[in-house]
Amino acid sequence: MSPTGDTPHGDEIIVVVVRECRPDDAKNIADLLNDLMAVAHGDRPVTTARVESYFRHCTAHGEMYANFVAEESGRAVGFLSAVFYQTPFHDKGTCLINELIVDADYRGLGVGRALVESAKDEAKRRAMDEIEVGTEKNNVDAQRFYKRVGFDEEYVLMGEDFHKGKK
Ligand SMILES: CC(C)(COP(=O)(O)OP(=O)(O)OC[C@H]1O[C@@H](n2cnc3c(N)ncnc32)[C@H](O)[C@@H]1OP(=O)(O)O)[C@@H](O)C(=O)NCCC(=O)NCCS
Repeated sequence: MSPTGDTPHGDEIIVVVVRECRPDDAKNIADLLNDLMAVAHGDRPVTTARVESYFRHCTAHGEMYANFVAEESGRAVGFLSAVFYQTPFHDKGTCLINELIVDADYRGLGVGRALVESAKDEAKRRAMDEIEVGTEKNNVDAQRFYKRVGFDEEYVLMGEDFHKGKK
């Protein structure tokens, strides 16, 4: 991907590559996730140690997880985490995007689309039946983005945060 245009990068050509995450991405990814927290998750900061622990868990259960970064000049500027699971109705399985964040300076360049395409490719490689994602109800920007990359509003995701209101 080599985008240019009306961004903080002006006419500068930047090259972004999507690849699987490595343990040494953890610090960059923690920073990105703390930006995501501002729009989605509330008040629990993500530490580098937490991301490293998550990666260890994903590696130990590789059949259930995939993590991708979009890298520019050695730095992660986008992150997507996906989980793969079965239900009685979907015996091949569902790919659920559980986190997606693009650095604010790199939005609108196709980075988010490239990360979602990587997740779709991985889901198809694993012969999943479908891909899905939940967004905060008020995150209309993300909902518009997901519609542009092929998702529709098939379900409403409901939930209860057991930690809400606790420190
Ligand atoms: C949502 C997000 C991941 C999109 O990433 P991005 O790299 O800016 O998106 P892209 O440049 O790949 O855009 C892909 C398409 O979606 C469209 N799109 C992106 N953001 C949009 C928005 N806010 N409103 C409408 N369309 C949008 C683009 O115009 C593009 O359409 P096109 O290819 O048909 O021209 C990014 O804005 C982000 O990180 N937001 C904050 C975190 C967040 O909300 N994550 C989702 C939590 S579930």
